[in-house]
Amino acid sequence: MSIIFDRMSERIEEWRMEDWQLKSKGGNKVLSEVTVAQAYGGMRGVRALICDTSRVPQDKGLIVRGMPLAELVDKTPEEVYFLMLTGDLPTKDELKSFTDDIKARKNVPAYVWDLLRAMPRDTHPMVMLNSAILIMHKESVFADEYDRGIKKDDQWKSTLEDALNLVAKLPAIAAGIYRMKFNKGEIIPPDSSMDLAGDYFHMLGVSDVPDFKDLIRLYLVAHCDHEGGNVSALATQVISSSLADLYYSLSGAFNGLAGPLHGLANQESLKWVLEIMEKYGGTPTNNQIKEIVAKTMESGKVIPGYGHAVLRITDPRFDAFLNFGKKHFPNDPVFLTVSRLYEVVPEELKKIEKIKNPWPNVDAVTGAILYYYGLKEFSYYTVMFAVSRSLGLTAQTVINRAMLTPLFRPKSVSTQYIRDIVG
Ligand SMILES: CC(C)(COP(=O)(O)OP(=O)(O)OC[C@H]1O[C@@H](n2cnc3c(N)ncnc32)[C@H](O)[C@@H]1OP(=O)(O)O)[C@@H](O)C(=O)NCCC(=O)NCCS
Repeated sequence: MSIIFDRMSERIEEWRMEDWQLKSKGGNKVLSEVTVAQAYGGMRGVRALICDTSRVPQDKGLIVRGMPLAELVDKTPEEVYFLMLTGDLPTKDELKSFTDDIKARKNVPAYVWDLLRAMPRDTHPMVMLNSAILIMHKESVFADEYDRGIKKDDQWKSTLEDALNLVAKLPAIAAGIYRMKFNKGEIIPPDSSMDLAGDYFHMLGVSDVPDFKDLIRLYLVAHCDHEGGNVSALATQVISSSLADLYYSLSGAFNGLAGPLHGLANQESLKWVLEIMEKYGGTPTNNQIKEIVAKTMESGKVIPGYGHAVLRITDPRFDAFLNFGKKHFPNDPVFLTVSRLYEVVPEELKKIEKIKNPWPNVDAVTGAILYYYGLKEFSYYTVMFAVSRSLGLTAQTVINRAMLTPLFRPKSVSTQYIRDIVG
């Protein structure tokens, strides 16, 4: 057993004590009032969830356990995962123990590949990923222990076992889906000597460019978590609050991640960029961009990669990838188009009053970068997003289990109730 179980045991004891004190001292303090507009409006801004793995202040963007993304861009996924689970970056010895533990859990059961091979050729890669996760439910240590009557206080340990098993296996499953779905040849098995990012890159079997390997590492770090209220995080926590195990919860959450307003936006964004380049025969001028923004909006579509439900600034994840592109391939035409869109689109969106955030989010740039390295299968991009997001979603679930978070059950009201209130 790796050091992570001991480290979490220590922290959980402290966290439980603090939670208990906060609830006894201020359990009746008000966090949020809910307006009629918020009830109709996707509960935007309603403060009714607790998430400690990360925060997303609207004027700062992603902060993981107190560390802004800019301070994490050189870290490995294992370091960031340890940080989310325990609240601290690992020491050298802790990192070794943790990474070794994950390395030992990588093998994917053969029936997963049988299932994926049996699927129709035109199945979306996200359906393949979610089906693979769900069929592995019989591996759940939590479900097995729950059936045998595990104590509530200890349920986080088997949830952590499930989390580590899933996080370790997902790169192999995701890479296998890439090779299977897009006819890239035989599946490449995991290498137990490699870390998560290195092995994912190796199993994808893509061109052996060192920068590309570094991009995969950055990709897995930058998409790791985005506090507790986004669709996939909320879905994970709602599902797992029924004491459904992580196989059920994560698969359900990723069905939400597959929506165009959430994780699918990266593929939509690159599609839009390439359509623009085809229409104008290369990187468009500023005036052409203004024209295409107006036309896209007129057709009833959103500008993919722009706007955010929480942020009111350029997403620092966008900045991280933009800096990566500027460093490694500043003159690539697709990257230049993305950079020029960034100069023009926000000014155009600012003119539309209803849009609360005219700035780009992470999805405005990641597709262009993957495209540069030859990973051109757009429908696959959300799978990569999911591999990264599994870190935050599983960390949140382990912590919620440890904090004995009860069943989610907010109250709904009828339209008549609203009529009576509005008068
Ligand atoms: C992310 C997103 C779903 C947030 O939605 P939201 O919280 O409702 O955002 P807002 O409050 O600013 O939306 C208000 C209005 O502006 C519109 N709007 C927001 N972003 C827009 C965009 N990029 N292009 C066009 N219209 C946009 C919304 O569709 C909404 O219009 P409606 O009232 O007619 O339905 C939205 O900005 C969007 O659809 N962006 C494009 C997709 C995307 O990049 N998703 C990835 C998110 S990380």
